[in-house]
Amino acid sequence: MARKKLEYTRREIGKHRLRPESLMMGYGYRPEWSEGSIKCPIFQTSTFAFKSAEEGKRFFALAYGLEVKGPRESLGLIYSRLNNPDLEILEDRLTLWDGAEDATVHASGMAAIATTFFSFLRPGDVLLHSEPVYGGTEFLITHVLPEFGIEVIAFPAGPRGRDAAERALRDKGIADRLGMIFLETPANPTNDLVDIAHCAELARKNSNGRKIIVAVDNTFLGPLFQHPLQHGADLVIYSATKFIGGHSDLIAGAVLGSEELIGKVRWTRTFLGTASEPWTGWLLLRSLETLKLRMTSQMKNARYVADFLADHPKVDKVHYLGHINEENPQHEVYRRQCIAPGAMVAFEIRGGEAEAFRFLNSLQLIHLAVSLGGTESLAEHPATMTHADVPVDDQPRMGITPALVRLSIGVEHPEDLIADLSQALEKV
Ligand SMILES: Cc1ncc(COP(=O)(O)O)c(C=O)c1O
Repeated sequence: MARKKLEYTRREIGKHRLRPESLMMGYGYRPEWSEGSIKCPIFQTSTFAFKSAEEGKRFFALAYGLEVKGPRESLGLIYSRLNNPDLEILEDRLTLWDGAEDATVHASGMAAIATTFFSFLRPGDVLLHSEPVYGGTEFLITHVLPEFGIEVIAFPAGPRGRDAAERALRDKGIADRLGMIFLETPANPTNDLVDIAHCAELARKNSNGRKIIVAVDNTFLGPLFQHPLQHGADLVIYSATKFIGGHSDLIAGAVLGSEELIGKVRWTRTFLGTASEPWTGWLLLRSLETLKLRMTSQMKNARYVADFLADHPKVDKVHYLGHINEENPQHEVYRRQCIAPGAMVAFEIRGGEAEAFRFLNSLQLIHLAVSLGGTESLAEHPATMTHADVPVDDQPRMGITPALVRLSIGVEHPEDLIADLSQALEKV
């Protein structure tokens, strides 16, 4: 199979530009490369034969950054920790949704985040980040990065975020050591928003001659309903385990951005060994074909669920982007940044942990499980599960209360979901 970038990048019919959902079935691959097979085969191989020793020498020189790629040259296949056809085609297709130049796929969302941090942060640097973030990311930031000499400073997602981020840079005297701004928006589990354009502006103002990377974890809304690169972010990060994979049957991650920045992530990925592998890559190619269908259906279902919960007497508060109205201080950011409200709904049940647990233990259709973005609906208790590592004293500050339940809405019939939620709430 010979893939040459310039041969397969056709994205239009005449002057008509094709949309990402139309390109998900074929972009980056041609049946004539593989015996006419409509689907790209799984290249379940660890290594690739070189045509000559000279070719092997050139491929390695490019992969290790010893020589510069020619204008019409693409890196040849070497070894599946560096590249593999299923992963390269997947990377090409992922770039289409976010309008990115390049992408890398990784063994997990955490591998994507960790590889990004290790690509751009160095001892002495400061990482400014929004909070809350997914519990695993929180652990990496607060426990692992400081071991490598990286100082981490948090600011809250939500309406207080703008001032707090500016104050942190001004009052803590860290502006000249700032290496990266990392955002998770909407935040897991509260759905609070962070203004990406404002953070990009902060990065630009505090650059001191050094490029400060703005990286956005877009797992909750992307790649359909939010495009951080259009708002000034430099990198978009995904747990592809979630909506991109979409069937709760694989673990993967991705990073997207400019060719230059992704080149650095790819280089780090090679030596940390955090790439994904062919079988997962193939599954993700299949998943991408139905991404829009799934995310649209999940988004519609979530509105039914959120409306039902908002009217329920045993529910105190619903955190759902589709309920952000003009009186909400996040309204302007939501309108500017998000295309649709997505399928994540969190709510506070009247009571506390005991009531939340009674509700979770009573569900019959919705599974009690962490993770999100799959075709089946899932429910979990952030305070004791995904965000269990966040100290109990810090949780309320982030909006993680004992009464908070997080739902990821799937593609079931919405009335069946509501029947299940209704009977479980009755048990409380
Ligand atoms: C927002 C977010 N980012 C990153 C991750 C980590 O992804 P993974 O489990 O694929 O490593 C998760 C996992 O739940 C998540 O919710």
